[in-house]
Amino acid sequence: MAIILDDISRTFSEYLLLPRLTRRDQSINKITLKTPIGKYQSGKASKFDINIPVVSACMQSVSGTSLAISLARQGGLSMIFCSQSIDSQVEMVGQVKAHKAGFVTSGANTKPESTLASLLELMTETGHSTIPVTLDGSAKGEFCGLITDQDFWEFEDDLANSVKDHMTPKSEVFFGTEGITLRKANQLLHHHKKDCLPILDRAGNLNSLVFKKDYVDHQRHPLELLDENKRLSVGAAINTHDYRQRVPALIEAGADVLCFDSSDGFTEFQMDGIQWIREQFGDQIVIGAGNIVTPEGFDYLAQAELVDFIKVGIGGGSICITREQKGVGRGQASALLDVVKRRDAHFNDTGTYIPICSDGGLANDTQIVVALAMGADFVMMGRYFAMTEESPTPKVSINGQMYKPYWGEGTLRAQNWQRYSDGMSSRKMMFEEGVDAYVPLVGPLAEVLETTLYKLKSTMINVGADNLIDFRQNAELTLVSEQSIVEAGTSNVFQFSRKREIDEFDWGT
Ligand code: IMP
Repeated sequence: MAIILDDISRTFSEYLLLPRLTRRDQSINKITLKTPIGKYQSGKASKFDINIPVVSACMQSVSGTSLAISLARQGGLSMIFCSQSIDSQVEMVGQVKAHKAGFVTSGANTKPESTLASLLELMTETGHSTIPVTLDGSAKGEFCGLITDQDFWEFEDDLANSVKDHMTPKSEVFFGTEGITLRKANQLLHHHKKDCLPILDRAGNLNSLVFKKDYVDHQRHPLELLDENKRLSVGAAINTHDYRQRVPALIEAGADVLCFDSSDGFTEFQMDGIQWIREQFGDQIVIGAGNIVTPEGFDYLAQAELVDFIKVGIGGGSICITREQKGVGRGQASALLDVVKRRDAHFNDTGTYIPICSDGGLANDTQIVVALAMGADFVMMGRYFAMTEESPTPKVSINGQMYKPYWGEGTLRAQNWQRYSDGMSSRKMMFEEGVDAYVPLVGPLAEVLETTLYKLKSTMINVGADNLIDFRQNAELTLVSEQSIVEAGTSNVFQFSRKREIDEFDWGT
């Protein structure tokens, strides 16, 4: 006979945190949200941490290049979706890695003989105002000088003039030599009051550029998630069909984390993939597996400690209809609590800590807080990021309100990519596991995230926690009755809607 669990399948909204002692020395600014993604041995550091406990979902309508750049700059990580050709995924990973580095390979260059007119065109096209001049006009050619939009006047100078007549020649340019540290390069920029420092190799060829604005930008984003070469970190989704081709290409492109994207990861296919990656690439590459919702699923993926993190969640996603379509899944809170319990037991027994990611179904900031209190090391979200300016979909106006399209990876729309990619046969789709929808546009990611993380930190203070480990260790939660959910809202007060309040306010004009 089938096994029937004693407890019912519960969701995050059924739980509330109880306050614990808040200490006098606690403050928002002192709280750290750093959290591991890589497995680690007791007492040792994780091989990969993120600075805030959020990652964006492996989805077409979520994790594109702009979102990945924006999230990494806030300290989180995106998983660039794998429902696209290997080439285009590799290109997206490459764009994130190239976005900002201490040492940037010059993306726009000109020759001494080029005209100001063509230079102007290049500046308009690329948005760059400082252009290196090399003998052959390439990014690694012999360095001849620098030209900026301050070196000529568009409406005064003859645009048929050569670049060499207006540029600052090499003899007058302050430059660094290959091998210089980023710190030293920034010191040179500071000392010589320059905005751009070309780095040349010993033969005098252009190697890279260092910009003052990148330094300033970095100071403004202290949590930025960078690799050892000061490039932004990025994750990439992989699947169980083409990992033999996809994984080597993604690693070559610089992906920092690989994450299996599957609604059900408790499969031999996924274990085959994990084993293959470890055999080919060793233990350094970070691998995420999942999704699972049971301790049994955890044990299966945690065997031989091959994976770094495990994702929990089936059927809870905002665009997900897996539970309706297939009758498989579990309430996210029940799944998370059970798996975290097994993970903690695994840690006690073996000394290996395997981070857990709570994936999908987080309907608001409170639920993110509850998921972390219940023991998730970080959360993965789709809808949350799809609503931001940086998600890859276009803004759409519906009845005067701005929306963004958001669709599941289990929709025909998402799965259709195979039809257009080389070498992949189009598998016939018998039914969809997701829906195609719209979500309201909420604004720039940095602003939305700031509010969420501020709320999280405020709750951590309520619970007397300074970091996420304290938070889950101190956390005490209670189930709530339907009546207490009613009580949690406002009661017996007359509330105007925000819009009416604003419309009807007497502005005195
Ligand atoms: P959300 O944050 O609630 O929008 O959920 C996002 C999560 O839903 C993803 O990280 C996936 O785990 C899951 N998901 C994505 N696409 C589908 C789908 O088409 N069907 C079911 N689940 C999906």
